[in-house]
Amino acid sequence: MPDTYKGKQDDRRYEGEAVDITYNLKRCIHAKLCVNRLSEVFDVDKRPWIDANGADGDRVAEVIDMCPSGALHYDRKDGGAEESTPTANRIIVQKDGYLQFIGDLDIRGAAVEIESETRATLCRCGESNNKPFCDNTHKKVDFKTEDLKIVKVDEFAKADGKLVITSNKNGPLEVSGNFQIEDEDGNIIFTGSQTWLCRCGSSSKKPFCDGTHNRNGFTAD
Ligand code: FES
Repeated sequence: MPDTYKGKQDDRRYEGEAVDITYNLKRCIHAKLCVNRLSEVFDVDKRPWIDANGADGDRVAEVIDMCPSGALHYDRKDGGAEESTPTANRIIVQKDGYLQFIGDLDIRGAAVEIESETRATLCRCGESNNKPFCDNTHKKVDFKTEDLKIVKVDEFAKADGKLVITSNKNGPLEVSGNFQIEDEDGNIIFTGSQTWLCRCGSSSKKPFCDGTHNRNGFTAD
């Protein structure tokens, strides 16, 4: 990864006639939606494993739009619709796992500076080797979390506009902009416009930071 990762322009590009596909292995959490839904394009038993000519542009776009990590993106060459920006900023807290972001995202920090992203999966166990992104280390370290409870929900709260996520050095993810936080079943537990989310893995108020990172020696750029 470059010193400061800037998103899909730094990713490997697979060129096709109707669509180009970009892929970043280090951002991939191997959700397998691509290989399970469109094996004509995504086949890990082939080299290269992506054939951008394996399906038409609309089908490629439909499947890549489901990729939770943002490891996959596309650029249309056939005049079809480019990736759209979701109208609501959603943070989905995966039990025993990562923070999934969907929305109009800027992701900032020492190691990353992405101005426009629609999808990302960020580490909250504190152990990823690719912070701020999840690299599935939470499975190896057997990261466990409690079920989420409703904290503060305003049914009239907005979740639109730009959402800026900043990795604070040795500390939490700072989130600024309108958003809603959900559990993995879609239940909204928090609405707001600013918060700090734990990424050291040790907060007693997960997914929120409670300052424990100041005492447990957590280090991250
Ligand atoms: S980042 Fe985990 S408690 Fe602050």
